[in-house]
Order: sequence, then C-alpha cells, then structure tokens
Amino acid sequence: MATIPGSAGLPLLGDRSYDFYKDPVKFMEKNISYYKNRNFIGRFLNKSTVFVGCNKTLKCLLTEEADKLDLGYKMFMGDIYGDNILFTDGLDMVSLRESLCLLFTPEAVSTYQETIKHVVTTFIHKIDTENPVCLYQTLKRMCIEVCLSLFLGIDFDTMTELTETIVSLTTTHWHGIISVPVNLKLPIGGASTFSKALDAKAKLLDIIQNKKTSSSQNFSKKIQEVPKGDNGIFVNNHLLLFTSALVPKALSSLLTSFMIEVAKQKDLQESILTDKGLRERYMLEVQRMYPPFFGGRRVINKDVEVNQQKFVKGNAVVFSTYATHRDPEVFDDPHQFQPQRWTEKNINDKDKLFCFGAGPRCCVGQKLVWCIIDTIIDEMLTKFKVSLIDEQDLTHKWLPVSRPKNKVLVQFTEKDTSN
Ligand code: HEM
Repeated sequence: MATIPGSAGLPLLGDRSYDFYKDPVKFMEKNISYYKNRNFIGRFLNKSTVFVGCNKTLKCLLTEEADKLDLGYKMFMGDIYGDNILFTDGLDMVSLRESLCLLFTPEAVSTYQETIKHVVTTFIHKIDTENPVCLYQTLKRMCIEVCLSLFLGIDFDTMTELTETIVSLTTTHWHGIISVPVNLKLPIGGASTFSKALDAKAKLLDIIQNKKTSSSQNFSKKIQEVPKGDNGIFVNNHLLLFTSALVPKALSSLLTSFMIEVAKQKDLQESILTDKGLRERYMLEVQRMYPPFFGGRRVINKDVEVNQQKFVKGNAVVFSTYATHRDPEVFDDPHQFQPQRWTEKNINDKDKLFCFGAGPRCCVGQKLVWCIIDTIIDEMLTKFKVSLIDEQDLTHKWLPVSRPKNKVLVQFTEKDTSN
C-alpha cells in the first residue's frame, strides 16, 4: 500500500491554513506538482489533513466509503447556523435527510414553479437596459428575491422595509460564516464580526418564527408537515440555512459563469434557448470548471483504504472539487472550456462531477436548483440579448463562493419581439 506523501508538521508552526485561504488554486497546484501526487498530507486548521485532488479517490470517499467519514463543518459554521443536517451524522442524519428530501421531490418542486416564475419575471422587467450592469450583482439580487419569496413568503413588491432588513441581516450573518472562528489567525473577519453575525442570526430566527406561523406560503407550511416538522428547532434552523446568503450566492455563481460563457459567443444565445442538449453541455462544463464551492471537509471516523492509500481515523480530509474537476486522468485539456467533451470522451462521466457533492451526503436541493436556474435562463434570454462589455478582467476568485474577481459588466438589450 502506498503512503500519501507530505507531513502534518508541527502544531501551529506547520499550519498551512493561511496559504490555502490566500490562494486555494495555487495551494493545490503547487503541492500536487511538488509531491507528484494529487493527494497529499498537510496541517490545516491545526489538524493533520489529507488534501484530495484525485477524482477517483474523491468519488470513492464520497460514495462507497462515505460511512467512514463524518462531515467536518461544525467548527466553521456550527454556532452561526445552529443544529442542522450539515452538522449531523449517522442515523440522525438519515432521518433528517428523509424529512428534507420530501421538500425537494419533483412533485414538491413543481409546486414552487409559479412563485419562482413570478419573482423572476417581475425582477427581469426592472433590469436597467440603458446602462451596463454588474452581472453577478444583478443575478445575486434576483436569486435572493427568489429564495426569500419561496422559503418565507416575502413579497418584494409590497414589503419593502422588511425585505431590506432581511437582506441586510443575511449579509451580516454571512460575514460571521466567513470569519471562521477557530483558534487560528486567519485572513478575514474577527471576534466583533462574529458576534454581530450571531446577533443577526437571532433576529433572522425571530423573523422566521413569525413568518412561518403567519404566512400561508407553500414551503414554510410544507416543512412543518414533514415527519420532523413538529420540531420547532428543525424547522427554524433549516429555514435559516435555506434563506441565508449561502444558497443565493451558489446559485448566482453558477448562473454568472454560465452567462459569461454564453455571452462570449455570438449567436449562441438563441440556440441555448431552444437546444436543451447544448444547454446541458454548457452547464456541465460550467460546473466542471467553475464549481461554486471550492471543495469540502470531512473527518475520518474509521481507518479506510482507498486507491491503495490509507486514510487514518482522526485525520481530516479537505477535498478540492476544483482540483478533482481538473484531474487530467479524467478530463483532457482540463483548463480548457470544452462543452463538446460531454458528447465525446466524457459522455459517461457526469458522476465524476462533484459540484453538488456525491453519495449519501449529496445536495438535497438539486431539483430546485435546476428549476430556478432554468427559469432564470429562459426568462432572461427570451427577453434580452446579453453582451459582455469589451476587454474586461474575467478571472475568477474561489473563496468563499466562486465568482468573477472584479465586476463583470454586461449590457442587456431588449429583443424585438414584434414579429
Ligand atoms: C447552485 C446551488 C447549490 C450548490 C452548488 C450546492 C452544493 C452542495 C454541495 C456540494 C453539497 C454537499 C457538501 C458536502 O458533501 O460536503 C450540498 C449539500 C446540501 N445542500 Fe446544496 N447546493 C446548492 C443549492 C441548494 C439548495 C437550493 C438547497 C435547499 C434549499 C440545498 C440544500 C442542501 C442541503 C440540505 C445539503 C446537506 C445535505 C447533507 O448534509 O446530507 N442546496 N449542496
């Protein structure tokens, strides 16, 4: 059996967290090249950690060997979200997932479609067509409005004051998530950011408590009807998770990357509207190259051997979705955007994408994600031609959620639909 190269080094002194947070892409690429191995050991958050950039290893860890790994997010987000599925493992997790999955079946999602379409069409009518606008900010605001309308029944047409209060609270709450309150000096945030975020969380939970009892809204009623729905903490904390900034950021990350790729090529927009196969290939390639989440974390609860490499109980695993999606063993020319690969060499490789995770802890909200994303793409490209302003910096940043490093401006031009 091969040992995984690298070493955890000395406590604190050998810690690599700063390097990772500063430039996660460089961190992964530099170490993969140095160790000549896509998996390597280092010290991260002061814990011996296996970094995983090998596609085959990750697939196996997330699926066949998933029961040997616990989710490792409590130390980042436990306080800021309170108990929810992300901090639960074992049998408790199974029953929580069973309840949550009932909210995202195809039948359940079809009942959300009307709300989603109403919010998207109303928003799209208000988009500025006189001046260039920032693509990411526009899409993020649209996704925030979709999520708050859907999960809490907030009406952005009439409840102006309440909506702005909630949007501002979710931003303060988010700053607490990325301040990472662990016993290490990390580049962002700090104690006061964190306590303001806890305060925002308490206020958001008050609003959720009030809205879930007063609103006749579909989703907040449905979540109270699933098997765990009589537990107030389950309901409130999951509504907090879904309405927090995390979900709109992930949605607008994917949408922004998709729209940029589509806007780069003349005449592609009409085909994307009508040719579902072409749209799917573009979306697969966007997921591969620009996953909203750079990766994830686990803690090993039982020694396990994967690809002849031993993962030892007690160690952490940090997997890089970015690196596994650019593993040349699976994807030729991995840094090239090539949608056609999905009809050629990679036709059977959709299960080698981890944009939504894989196995028993994969994303429960995927059907809803595609419903929201397809509605936005359909409505946007039916009404507008979207053009990128020339000569802009399109480079990406990867943390905390991937998106263009700088503002990417686009011009929305209303299509002539008179004939
Ligand atoms: C583009 C949007 C989204 C992306 C990219 C995304 C991605 C992910 C990923 C990668 C995971 C697995 C994390 C891991 O394995 O460590 C996950 C889990 C999860 N997602 Fe999503 N997600 C999105 C939207 C949503 C939405 C809209 C919902 C529900 C409203 C949702 C609910 C969940 C839940 C509850 C889990 C935890 C499942 C568990 O712990 O068993 N996600 N998501």
